Amino acid sequence: MTKKTEYTDDYEDKTLYLPGPTEVHEDVIDAMAQPIFGHRTERMTDLYTTIVEDTKEFLGTEQEVIVLTASGTEFWEATTLNLVDDSILVPTSGAFSERQANVAERLGKDVDRIGYGWGDAVKPEDIRDALEPGDYDAVGVVMNETSTGVRNPVEEIGEVLGDYPDTYFVVDAISCLGGDRIVPDEHNIDCIFTSTQKAFAMPPGLAVCTVSDDAYERELSKDSSSWYGGFQRCLDYYDRKGQTHSTPAIPIMLAYREQMKRMLEEGHEARDERHREMAEYTRDWARDSFDLFAEEGYESRTVTCIENTQGIDVAETVARVSEEHGMLFSSGYGDISEDSFRIGHMGEHTVESIKELTDAIEDVAGV
Ligand SMILES: Cc1ncc(COP(=O)(O)O)c(C=O)c1O
Repeated sequence: MTKKTEYTDDYEDKTLYLPGPTEVHEDVIDAMAQPIFGHRTERMTDLYTTIVEDTKEFLGTEQEVIVLTASGTEFWEATTLNLVDDSILVPTSGAFSERQANVAERLGKDVDRIGYGWGDAVKPEDIRDALEPGDYDAVGVVMNETSTGVRNPVEEIGEVLGDYPDTYFVVDAISCLGGDRIVPDEHNIDCIFTSTQKAFAMPPGLAVCTVSDDAYERELSKDSSSWYGGFQRCLDYYDRKGQTHSTPAIPIMLAYREQMKRMLEEGHEARDERHREMAEYTRDWARDSFDLFAEEGYESRTVTCIENTQGIDVAETVARVSEEHGMLFSSGYGDISEDSFRIGHMGEHTVESIKELTDAIEDVAGV
């Protein structure tokens, strides 16, 4: 049984280099500290319509956008319930893609996996081979496999999906959207979703999903779709009232409003470029001192997974960098926790701030 460990109000703030949650700008934190207002007021309509329309503008999409009080996991469930009658194809190459497959199984769907080794990327031709004889309602792909630092080629997979218009393309871009530019409309993507605590650099608590016209239509004809994450319910309510169907996390939406202003000011392309620079710096550093876990040519732009070729004590290095330098990065995921470690270079970070971390790791690990 878990025992209560009293929260003390006495914790040291750390600079976050996790693959999410990540650093949040202080203006965005401050934006949350306001008296709560009613969720059926004009003020709420102003807030919600602003964040939804600004998100469309930032992403450069004509698709509808839902901002829902939930973590991103909600959209694994909702997209499956809304779009999959019987079967879904899920290429699995790490912990999160495996979890996506598992969610669909739990919901009673037939799940066909294409199993790759951890660190390998999904290959578009394998998707084509599986779709040729298969009759899938949807293909679900994790764009950025956070457990391995692999960036899957969703643009090319989308091209394949273009030849299968009856199969919906669902993309989990939870650990990269906002830092790795992709326009869903240009790649036959029906739904792409993220969580606010990742490359959007907002507090956790909201999930964001785009919805193509086809995906919306499809859900209209089904009565087994998700209630909470039902596209119809969310989007029709937005259409009629400019609000959410249930009480939202208002403080986090205030933070969203503030951060989205900053994101629009920087622009999606400039943000993408800044993330590329951070990723390149981190990769160069990793290659000099260690090696990369991800298959060459498929390295993530927001999370680098570093293979521990020097046999450092990863858990101890993480702990000491936290204690001695006040910076928090991540060990490897699950079974590869000591064989690798991960640096989240997303959101508010810059090459300079990432360099501060790599200097700290060098200092502690002596590499
Ligand atoms: C690729 C991916 N998918 C899904 C999730 C789950 O996201 P959340 O914790 O916001 O539900 C994560 C979390 O790290 C992730 O990295």
